[in-house]
Order: sequence, then C-alpha cells, then structure tokens
Amino acid sequence: MCGIVGYVGPRDAAPILLEGLRRLEYRGYDSAGLAVLTDDGEVFVEKKAGKLSNLTDHLNGSAPAGHPGIAHTRWATHGRPNDANAHPHRDCSGRLALIHNGIIENYAEIKERLLSAGHRFTSETDTEVLAHLIEERYQGDLVEAVRDALGEVRGAYAIGVMHLDHPNRIVGARMNVPLIVGLGNGEGFLASDVPAILEHTKNVVILQEGDIADVTPEGVTIIGMDGVKVERPVTKIRWNIAAAEKGGFPHFTLKEIYEQPHAIGEALRGRVDDAGNVKLPELEAIEEKLRRVERVYVVGCGTARYAGEVGAHLIQSWAGLPANGQIGSEMRYSPPPIDDRTLVISVSQSGETADTLAPQKLASERGAVIVVVTNVVGSALTREADAVCYLQAGPEVAVASTKAFVTQVVVLEMIALHLAQLRGTMSDRRRRSFGLALRDLPGQAAEVLKLAPQVKKLARRWAGVRDVMFVGRALGFPVAMEGALKLKELSYVHAEGYAAGELKHGPIALLDPQTPLVAIATKSATYEKVVSNVAEVHAREAPVVAVATVGDEVIDRYAQDVLYVPETPEEMSPVIAIVPLQLLAYEVAVARGADVDQPRNLAKSVTVE
Ligand code: M6R
Repeated sequence: MCGIVGYVGPRDAAPILLEGLRRLEYRGYDSAGLAVLTDDGEVFVEKKAGKLSNLTDHLNGSAPAGHPGIAHTRWATHGRPNDANAHPHRDCSGRLALIHNGIIENYAEIKERLLSAGHRFTSETDTEVLAHLIEERYQGDLVEAVRDALGEVRGAYAIGVMHLDHPNRIVGARMNVPLIVGLGNGEGFLASDVPAILEHTKNVVILQEGDIADVTPEGVTIIGMDGVKVERPVTKIRWNIAAAEKGGFPHFTLKEIYEQPHAIGEALRGRVDDAGNVKLPELEAIEEKLRRVERVYVVGCGTARYAGEVGAHLIQSWAGLPANGQIGSEMRYSPPPIDDRTLVISVSQSGETADTLAPQKLASERGAVIVVVTNVVGSALTREADAVCYLQAGPEVAVASTKAFVTQVVVLEMIALHLAQLRGTMSDRRRRSFGLALRDLPGQAAEVLKLAPQVKKLARRWAGVRDVMFVGRALGFPVAMEGALKLKELSYVHAEGYAAGELKHGPIALLDPQTPLVAIATKSATYEKVVSNVAEVHAREAPVVAVATVGDEVIDRYAQDVLYVPETPEEMSPVIAIVPLQLLAYEVAVARGADVDQPRNLAKSVTVE
C-alpha cells in the first residue's frame, strides 16, 4: 500500500532514503516525503503530493545533511493525496517524526481525545494520531513510548519513528503489514520491502506481528508488545539489486514479461525430476492432512484470483476433489463450508493482500489446512500457513502482475499433480507426462515472446479502441479474465472477460465493428465450441483476434489477427496463452501514452480491505 524506509548510521540519510523510495514507489505514488535529523539539530521534514519526482524536483539536491532519517511513499486511504496528508507526520513539539503504512481503525476516537487534550493536528490522516499518541507517552524512552502508544491502537501498521533526542536510533513496529530491518556495517535500516535497502545490505530481519524494533548503527533489539525481548533470525537475501532494476527495458512491466521463461524455470527448479515426477518437499509435513481433505478453495485477488481459478479447475480434474476459486474479498463475508477437511490455498504475489489474509484467517480458525502460494519470503500470509510453496520468481516490481501469474499457475499445477499422486487419482504415466510438459514451458514461453513485433503492430491499430471483450472456455476463461484485467489496468481501455458460451446470453449485444473480441482458442476439448462462438461474432462484423495453437488452419477464417502459440496440453495452456495478451496490454498502453509501470489509482500491494 505505502512504502516506508528508514536509515540510521554515519552517512547522510537523504540520498539513501530517496533512492529507497524510488525502489518502493510501486507501493503507492500519491505523495512522497522524508524527515532527516539535520547536522544543525533540527527535524527537517519535506513532503509533496504526487510522484516521488515532485519531491526530488522540489528538493533539487538540497536536502540537508544529517542522520538518521525516515521516508514514505503513499497510497492514500484516509485523507486526500495532498502535501498536508503526505508523511512523515510530526508531533506538536516538532521533535518527533513518523511514517506509517496501514490503517489505524480507531483513529477517530483517539484523535478526539488528543484534540481535547490540546494536541494540534495538521492533516486529515489516521496516521497523525500515532505521532501525537507517542508524544503523549514519551518520557525519554522512545521505544517504550512507541510500545505504550501502540497498545491503544487497533488496525494494521508498519511504522518508522525518529526523535530529536535520539540521534542514533530509529524505531519500527509491525502489525499485519510488512516491515524488515536491514543490518549493515555500522548502520541500520527499516523498509517495507527488500529492494529499498538491498544496495546497502543483504542481511535482513523480517519482523513479526507485534514486534517493536530498536534500530541503531550497532544492530537491532526487538521486543514484543508485552515488552519482552524476542529473537528473530537474520535472513540472507539471495537475489541482487540488478533483479530490481529495469535492466535496459523501458518499463519494469516489459522486463517482467520477458523474464517469464526464466521465472517459470525457477518455479520448477528442484520440483520436477527428469522423469516428470513432481516433488514438493514443502508439502511433505502435511501429507497426512492432505490425504484427508474433502474439498478445496483456492483464494486470491485480481490476477492471483485468476491463477487460482486455473488451480481449482486442475485440482478438481486431476485430484478428484471438489475445488472452487474464491475471490478473497468475498469469501470472508460469504464463507463457503469450511472445516478440518477443507484445504484452502491462498495465492498472492506479495503475500500481504488484506483481502486474501482475512479469509485465510477465517479458514484457519475453522480448522482448514492452509497452503500459501506466494513470492515473498516471510510475508504475512506465510505466517499462519501449514505449508508454503514459494513462486521463486524473483521480485515483481511493476504494478501489473505478469510473471507472478504464470508462476502461480505453474506452482498450482504442481500442487494439483502432488494431490493427484497422494490420492492415487491419476496413472503414473499420465502424471509424469504433465510433469514433463511443465518442463517444456520455459522454452515455449520464450517462443511466444517472438510474437512481440506482430503484437506491437496490432496494438498501434488499437490505440483508439474504447472497449474490448475477451472470451475463453474452461481454462481459457480465467485467461480471458486476466487478459482483460491487464488491458484495463495498463491502458485504461474498458475490457471484460467472459466465458465464451455466455456471449450469446447478453454480452454479444455490445459487439460492433468498433469493439474487438479477443478469443482464447488454443487446442482444447472446447476448441470447436470456441470457434463457433468466434464465428457468431465474425458474422456480426466485430473484429476478432484469436490466440490459437500453431498449425490451426481453421481459426483464420473468422479472426482478423491470429497470435499463434506453441502446442501444449490444454492443462498447461494458460501459462502460454496469457503471454501475448500481456504484450498486447503493454503495447496498447504504450501506444496510448499511459503510465505503464504505475497505472493511475493503483498500488502493487493492497493491504487494506
Ligand atoms: O500481491 P497479490 O498477488 O495478492 O495481489 C493481488 C492483486 O492485487 C493483484 O494481482 C492486482 O490485481 C494486480 N494489479 C494485477 O495486475
């Protein structure tokens, strides 16, 4: 949602913080700000609405020297995205500055009390109450004041706090929102995510819920909300900063689309042997529980939800278990039957999506077996899981999810095969043939990327289009929905994904020569039905673009443009069929001059419900 970064050590904080913000901007870009304890002994604060560039342009290289410092990039929840509501926020004395990611649910009542106690507020945010609350509790011990103040708040937070009295300290705290501590050589860091500090250290401590971290140049001391010291392991980050750079691509989105062959390979690494056997050691400890499972829900939001639909389809078909995809934000309030024979698979790139976390908690309380599929080690979802299968896709920075989708599908395919093996629902031969087909996917994904020039030409023709419809059947349906989501979020072109068979029940009324249809028409059991639907559309003179299997000689009778992809078993097709649609969404966005990596109104991680 928001990004926070903090630095304590001998160097000037401002350049480190601004660079950290640049790497966290994917988390929100409604405003940016920083606070530095200057060499003149003041708490300097500067903050600007809009993107980070507004702040850096305003500072124009003249941020004061000094340390420590904290900084923030915002995705607005409470209070409009203006300068006043930007973080950091100060207390009345101006000696304390604070940054926050999350929501303080009981801020209104706390604010009322603090106002009547004489505190002066300068913003409409929920966050500002924290600065005043800590001020109220402060008697010289900053860590204790933070702990005391947090005891009064409800909600989600990752905070960073600095104080004029403490030139060698920043204090962080976490509840339901990610926060890590970086341990450098004689310096310490706080950050929402690894890329913000990776340039300075690979040693990080992932804070847990309720942790309060006292970060100094000498290291970190962590206490819980009860004031008792806790030990947390130091995690060594395996990837380097190049993975979080554009690497010569004009946008992170494009870089991540092109990374997909490698990312799929990484997701498969060590998990499928040469004979096609899938081994997920992560699930070994819960095999007994998995054998007893009677139903499965695959839950996620946005792109992760569509990957979940593919997973549910395959689990049902291969492992013979009733399985449904669930929208995270709906499942909690309209829960299906859940008990200790239910398997819930939470799918999330970030592992911190509040709308996925909430139903997972509910399912956990009802005794379900929880498996998490995520890209981020130690993220919120992983902590209440019985097992975690990581995507191993490397950092995904662009707001629009691309390589996370394909790796989520690949990991879910492996889970489905694992369940099929455990339950004996598939012959070894068939199971291994799918394992081998998985191993073909990196090469096939690389092949599809060669469609880029054709897609670019098509996108130029589409630059002025207003509406696009995407259709598919069975496994092509989630691909259609994901294709539509990519197009709308990247290019702001209105797009909808439908089950192809539904077209004639209403949506076909929308089609005309100005409204193209994209059909997922790869080789499958429903191929002929999809072709019939495409023919119906062709007869009504709407332009059709088909994603079809190489060698298909029928589809171009009805489609103006055909994007041919390599042949895969139908079960693997979503991984391959989505790639040209990602490229299409990207190129249409570029042709329309949209802000590809940071689409309006969005943030990479949505940590509020
Ligand atoms: O981090 P998550 O995978 O849980 O995020 C879920 C959605 O917010 C995310 O997929 C969103 O829909 C993307 N912007 C899609 O590109």
